[in-house]
Amino acid sequence: MGILLKNISTLLTLQGASAKNGRHIKEEDLGIMNQASVVMDKDKIVWVGPHKKLPKEWAKKKGMRELDMKGKTVLPGFVECHTHLIFAGDRAAEFEMRNQGVSYQEIAAKGGGILSTMKKTRSSSLKDLVATGQKRVDHFLSQGVTTLEVKSGYALNLKDEIKVLQAVQELKGPRTVSTFLGAHALPPEYKSYEEYLAFLAEKVLPVVAKKKLARRVDVFIEKGFFPVEASERYLRRAQELGFEVLIHADQMSLSGGSEVAVRIGALSGDHLLQVEEKEIRNLAKSEVTGVLLPTADLYTKTKYPPARAMIDAGVRVALATDFNPGTSPTQDLNLVGLLARLEMKMSLPEVIAAYTVGAAHALNLHKEIGSIEVGKSADIMGIDQEWSCLFYSVGEAAEKVVFSRGKKVFDSLS
Ligand code: NIG
Ligand code: FE
Repeated sequence: MGILLKNISTLLTLQGASAKNGRHIKEEDLGIMNQASVVMDKDKIVWVGPHKKLPKEWAKKKGMRELDMKGKTVLPGFVECHTHLIFAGDRAAEFEMRNQGVSYQEIAAKGGGILSTMKKTRSSSLKDLVATGQKRVDHFLSQGVTTLEVKSGYALNLKDEIKVLQAVQELKGPRTVSTFLGAHALPPEYKSYEEYLAFLAEKVLPVVAKKKLARRVDVFIEKGFFPVEASERYLRRAQELGFEVLIHADQMSLSGGSEVAVRIGALSGDHLLQVEEKEIRNLAKSEVTGVLLPTADLYTKTKYPPARAMIDAGVRVALATDFNPGTSPTQDLNLVGLLARLEMKMSLPEVIAAYTVGAAHALNLHKEIGSIEVGKSADIMGIDQEWSCLFYSVGEAAEKVVFSRGKKVFDSLS
């Protein structure tokens, strides 16, 4: 049966941002409408417009549930397009070491970093990974996240990478998108990155494809991690197997990741804080979405990505938490948006579009999600807050009601 959200004080449809494919966003692209209504039927949006024009057939439809949204703001659910949500343990001790002057790379070279999370994740059961994972998912839901990307990459062997991807499939609430990030670090069983990538391409990708555990493949291209050429070959092999591809690119050094992303038609290049003019020009001409992850930059005390130059050049950007135990141990979307505004000079409409339409593009789901339009998925939230107060305060979440595919998945309003 349907749900009618009526008397919405302010509705942000994001229709303009969607029509512009998430580029060059201005306030008018938020599609702001006052006294509006939205009708959801099953998992889809079937009507959007001024309340006065709501057709009688919807208002009177049998079984239609009504929700009076007087005083509330309604907008698309947020799309969190880059997380490493399934992991065991924490890396708080390493965080202290980094603060005392030891670098991320030094810690990794001594078997800490990703490899220390690997040990704990390998020895965790599927059940435990799902239980901790679900708590984290619920925290994202309470912030209005209706689509959540989750990467593997803390197991680094066939059996346990599959276990992690299976855990992702068991998570409930938002729509989840899983990504295979076996190429996250070199596990102790392999001597070279090339040898490990060959193993992933030959022995792991076909299993992931056959079991339909992920439709995306990611690789961490970085000095001291996966090298450019072998990574490009690996990603092209993944594409041949039918995977979409993306890259952790140009995070710690300008190591060529974003150029590979453009060359092979990746969905996104993620991090990108080291890119310069040439890379920005090439990204702008491409369909690659720049996924910016400022909380990782905060925690690693590096610079922030040149978002202003990217956006002005026409790059489509998304924002995400990069939630992981090493470089971004936070799930706070408000902190991400706040840093984008404070440190990356993004306007509030740009931040809102990045967390909806931009992120939907990064997941290649922009035809289904990211804006409130007839025919799109009913992924919607109502918040007890003016839209101007979004991404402003940290440490507190507005009261809200969240619908994912037409079903109420979170409600702190009633
Ligand atoms: O996105 N850069 C590579 N991967 C993660 C960090 C993972 C970790 O340190 O555990 C990131 O920042
Ligand atoms: Fe990441």
